[in-house]
Amino acid sequence: MIRIAQIGYGYWGPNLLRNFMSLGNAKVEILVDSQIERLNQAVGLFPSLKTSIIADDAFNNTDVDAVVIATPVFTHYELAKRALLAGKHVLLEKPMTATVDQAKELIDIALQKGKLLMVDHTFLYTGAVEKMKELKDQGALGELKYFDSTRINLGLIQQDVNVLWDLAPHDISVLDYLTNEQPVSVNATGVSHIHNGIENVAYLTVNYQNNFIAHFNCSWSSPVKIRMMLLGGSEKMVVFNDMEPTEKIKVYDTAHNVSTLEEKQKVMIDYRVGDVYVPKIELAEPLRKLALDFIHCIENNTEPRASAIGGLSTIRILEAAQQSIKQSGKEVKIEI
Ligand SMILES: NC(=O)c1ccc[n+]([C@@H]2O[C@H](COP(=O)([O-])OP(=O)(O)OC[C@H]3O[C@@H](n4cnc5c(N)ncnc54)[C@H](O)[C@@H]3O)[C@@H](O)[C@H]2O)c1
Repeated sequence: MIRIAQIGYGYWGPNLLRNFMSLGNAKVEILVDSQIERLNQAVGLFPSLKTSIIADDAFNNTDVDAVVIATPVFTHYELAKRALLAGKHVLLEKPMTATVDQAKELIDIALQKGKLLMVDHTFLYTGAVEKMKELKDQGALGELKYFDSTRINLGLIQQDVNVLWDLAPHDISVLDYLTNEQPVSVNATGVSHIHNGIENVAYLTVNYQNNFIAHFNCSWSSPVKIRMMLLGGSEKMVVFNDMEPTEKIKVYDTAHNVSTLEEKQKVMIDYRVGDVYVPKIELAEPLRKLALDFIHCIENNTEPRASAIGGLSTIRILEAAQQSIKQSGKEVKIEI
């Protein structure tokens, strides 16, 4: 039985608490939130839950093996560091930290302490992404050519991070998981219509060495809600439409083959538009699968799918994107 302390019970925290409360091999020892009203709401649902407004009550608690952190981004580094130094395993919300240096330091501390550090990249546990990974690993898509994502709606405007830091971690973590490729550089542009310098509309391009390219369109200011990822290969292309209730993934047997007619030095393009099929995917709650992975990895000393290294890769892209936005879209190299 892994004993959990959770810090943060705002918008996302209730989903984590509900899932950890329902696992047979985990027990939530204590819930911490600096707002007493939030704790009262949780106790209304789970009357026997112990609560505190002080994070130290989680860190100093010898009955706690692991800390789940669901607070705003600017608090992640400090809270996770304190938890790791207190000898606890940590599940940290996305985006992992506010800077690359912070993420690296947390990974080092986790290694030194022999503790698990995992990031809540929930999308890696969706049936849709699992199927995309399966198709890619089987070679069914051919050589990967591009990844294109759109995540726009009339969204909740955050006060501490821009729209890329808020929304793109989902898609960037999926890109990182599916491709395993190291990006070379980014170009990003964005604007703030809120007059606080926090971009509410942003476009990010991630460049790779091998002609693969990825693009992200993120907005809190769209009248329509679109949640779509496209993964294009030389053989097949996959569309993941998260707004579809059941048929979330469609695989298109579509591609174009390019050949050169030597005598005329002309490029010939042959279009292939074949069948579209809808694979069956698992519709179980991704956050529950992530919570189970967290507990399993603590018990078995194994690496989770949503690893801290994947969390760091995401922060590398976001940090470079931020620099590019400040330089009006100039290419910014990604240092590994
Ligand atoms: N994985 C996902 O799909 C997903 C979805 C939404 C949000 N998130 C992430 O979850 C995190 C929290 O987002 P949110 O929208 O729930 O924020 P929120 O502001 O709604 O809630 C944060 C809660 O943390 C509490 N808090 C803040 N600092 C604290 C501290 N030092 N000690 C104790 N309590 C503290 C606040 O009182 C608040 O109740 C963010 O990192 C966000 O990116 C993830």
